[in-house]
Amino acid sequence: MRKIGIIGAMEEEVNILKEHMKDTEVSTIATMGFCEGTLEGKPVVVVRSGIGKVNAAICTQILADKYHVDAVINTGVAGSLRNEIDIADIVLSTDALQHDMDATGFGYEIGVIPRMESSVFSAEEEFLTKAKKVCSEVIPEVGVHTGRIVSGDQFISDNGKKEWLLKNFNGYCTEMEGAAIAQAAYLNHIPFLIIRAISDKADHSAEMAYSEFEEIAITNTVKLLTGLVAIL
Ligand code: ADE
Repeated sequence: MRKIGIIGAMEEEVNILKEHMKDTEVSTIATMGFCEGTLEGKPVVVVRSGIGKVNAAICTQILADKYHVDAVINTGVAGSLRNEIDIADIVLSTDALQHDMDATGFGYEIGVIPRMESSVFSAEEEFLTKAKKVCSEVIPEVGVHTGRIVSGDQFISDNGKKEWLLKNFNGYCTEMEGAAIAQAAYLNHIPFLIIRAISDKADHSAEMAYSEFEEIAITNTVKLLTGLVAIL
């Protein structure tokens, strides 16, 4: 059976998931609590990485090296970059990139990581297909979108920056960890999927909306994740 690493940036994002786990054992490495056990009878390691790309990449590497996970799923909330993607909707990653990777002064296009073969990391097709199916079964009332997730070490709460992200990268939503997890997974030859629930519109209203809708966003991702892990 495949062992799945499940990463959430914040306690709120992983705590409810941990409550659904059985036979758990927790180890703390680099301040991150790795909770190993089973979810829906499947072996998983659920962990809070902390916020931002560095934390997320370190966390993924530990999952690869110490826990030998066969796949990584990143869950959490995100800001929508498109009018048709509403608060509480779900975005499933087709691929992910870092919007704050900028070596343009050195002749590279924005978002391109110098001297790497790839800067856009593709999610696992099988996970994507299964996640879509689970969404239609367990959260049929929620809008589900499949597209690019753009990550950076920035909370986006500005209309101009939001438009810039859409224009340059054609992203569906923005957050602060997904592409780092995707890159670390790629480097370790591990498949990945990012699942994000929309908590805000990444504009001037983002800070207010975030606090109000975070809870419902997390509830929906937990339903999706437990359903997905059960069929992986
Ligand atoms: N996570 C949730 N909302 C976000 C936003 N607007 N920018 C970055 N990360 C987020």
